[in-house]
Amino acid sequence: MAIVPLNKDEIRKMERACRLAAETLNYVEKYIRAGLSTDEIDKLVHDFTLSRGAVPAPLGYNGFPKSVCTSINEVICHGLPGGEILRDGDIINVDVTPKLDGFYGDSSRTFLIGNVSDKARDLVEVAKLAMEKGIEAITPGGRTGDIGFETNKIVTRRGYTAVKEIGGHGVGRIFHEEPFVPSWGKKGKGDRLVPFHCITVEPMVNEGTDEIIEHDIPGSAIKWYTTADKKLSAQFEHTVLVTDTGYEVLTLA
Ligand code: MF3
Ligand code: CO
Ligand code: CO
Repeated sequence: MAIVPLNKDEIRKMERACRLAAETLNYVEKYIRAGLSTDEIDKLVHDFTLSRGAVPAPLGYNGFPKSVCTSINEVICHGLPGGEILRDGDIINVDVTPKLDGFYGDSSRTFLIGNVSDKARDLVEVAKLAMEKGIEAITPGGRTGDIGFETNKIVTRRGYTAVKEIGGHGVGRIFHEEPFVPSWGKKGKGDRLVPFHCITVEPMVNEGTDEIIEHDIPGSAIKWYTTADKKLSAQFEHTVLVTDTGYEVLTLA
């Protein structure tokens, strides 16, 4: 299906949904510490989202039973809140997607719990850098491979691996739409970026192997993923508006 660009009014709605995603992460961040459970994070996100007149899009999405994804340590993405308690030294990605006035704002950050190892801290720093380098590669008329190329370049230079099978996506009136935004690839290859359409840039960066293991969620079509070697994985995600002159990061508070 062809991508339909957003009009001015729709862009304003995307800006609001995306700002709320950033505010939700800022809100959660205040509570993140050793001893907090992933179910508590789920409740924080659920209640905050509703209090702002939005709905948490993950809840019921393809049967996903919670309002947020919480991915700890070797969990790559789509971690299902299930009562795990955060411990000193953990890293946790919290991925939120409020749906506000019909539009989706998708963003995630990886948080450090207490005293984390130098390796974990470096991995998380590289994941954030990878997202930023990927975003900076966005140009009007550019392609998804431009983003993936820059993402993968920084990841491999720093001695890590980028997850290949999962990545970013178009987002707007629909949670997940075209194009697929890879965290690897070649400049000038892949789908063309469309001005006034939104995409996410959300590289998943692994400490060791890029091989992933897929896990089922009972009653859901959504899968969650872990690293095959059980080493750490980190991720950051922004929703970005492609413009006719460049881009605008929308998931900022
Ligand atoms: N927010 C995730 C993404 O970045 C998608 C989560 S889908 C869910 O694309 F069902 F697992 F919540
Ligand atoms: Co996303
Ligand atoms: Co997300």
